[in-house]
Amino acid sequence: MNSTMQPVGPAISVENLHVSFGRKNQAVIKAVDGVTFAMQKGEIFGIIGESGSGKSTLGRAMVGLLRPSGGELMHGDVSPLALPSSEFNRHRRKYQIIAQDPNAAFDPRMTMLQSLCEPLHIAREGRRADRIAKAFAMLERVALPPEMANRYPHELSGGQKQRANIARALMLEPRVLVCDEVVAALDVSIQADMLNLFARLREEFNLTYVFISHDLRVVSHISDRVAVMYFGKIVEFGPARDVIDRPLHPYTEALRSAEPEVIQDRAKARKRIVLQGEIPSAVNPPSGCRFHTRCPRARDVCRADEPKQRELLPGRHVACHFAEELMAQAEPLAVQPSRISEASAGL
Ligand SMILES: Nc1ncnc2c1ncn2[C@@H]1O[C@H](COP(=O)(O)OP(=O)(O)O)[C@@H](O)[C@H]1O
Ligand code: SF4
Ligand SMILES: [Mg+2]
Repeated sequence: MNSTMQPVGPAISVENLHVSFGRKNQAVIKAVDGVTFAMQKGEIFGIIGESGSGKSTLGRAMVGLLRPSGGELMHGDVSPLALPSSEFNRHRRKYQIIAQDPNAAFDPRMTMLQSLCEPLHIAREGRRADRIAKAFAMLERVALPPEMANRYPHELSGGQKQRANIARALMLEPRVLVCDEVVAALDVSIQADMLNLFARLREEFNLTYVFISHDLRVVSHISDRVAVMYFGKIVEFGPARDVIDRPLHPYTEALRSAEPEVIQDRAKARKRIVLQGEIPSAVNPPSGCRFHTRCPRARDVCRADEPKQRELLPGRHVACHFAEELMAQAEPLAVQPSRISEASAGL
């Protein structure tokens, strides 16, 4: 939750959510395997984890783009998957997703103006002149000059294309934007500008964000709270800076130690933890704690018993048998400023 905002109820909540892939007679991949959390309206909720951990699948399921194989999804007090299809389609417009590759969002044969108008055209919303006026207004909101309207996707830089992609999502006036690795393909030099744009748009459009990234630095700089995913499960979640500064799960600890940019002064002396091995096979998850094959703290019990998620400190949830050990060795937290005001700091 950002500092100026009071809790106003959940924007999206999931309860024991499962998403599996695989047809009959094929091995099943449990991409999301029993995830529970609620994100508040106005919040920036970060999801971090290595590639293949299930972040995109979770993001797509949260907006109703993928049907869960189990569990519950709520948008506020609406159960979107229980809506009749025509109502569901109308409802889903308010839950948009922006993906890493803006090229996939644009038809190379359409100008930016045509692409921006397309979602409203499909939804049969407004007159043509109104749609065009709105498209120009949205270009302005994402700081693109009006002449971009007549350009084709290949005539824009990566950063401009991602801005146009955001403008396109805004045409439908979403409540929630899932931003999936939205700065990953951009030069580091323009990542900060883009994050500032997201921060500004949140204020202007009263948006709630899910911010997905494999890059701890990006998520930690923009998010109010973060969830850390490993292999289809959330292993830790809580306030962003608390989780990053004082991880209570060995996986978060390892991710953090691999990111020198986010390491604070007092923690510089910490040694880097190099995780051995790749993420295990998705069709054949390890027994007990899924992280035990790579965890430097694993013991016998970890191979046999799956750790349950528990609230170790107020608002700090963690799934590790030995989280108390990490808590005992961590330094007390200092009072920290709001995240969003410093979205670009340190990038
Ligand atoms: N459409 C799909 N069909 C089959 N497997 C998929 C599909 N989408 C994702 N997966 C698998 O689900 C797991 C999680 O993928 P994904 O959600 O893309 O992870 P992340 O976004 O964290 O990289 C991976 O093992 C991936 O191969
Ligand atoms: S439960 Fe065991 S293997 Fe899993 S993260 Fe904790 S210490 Fe490591
Ligand atoms: Mg992904």
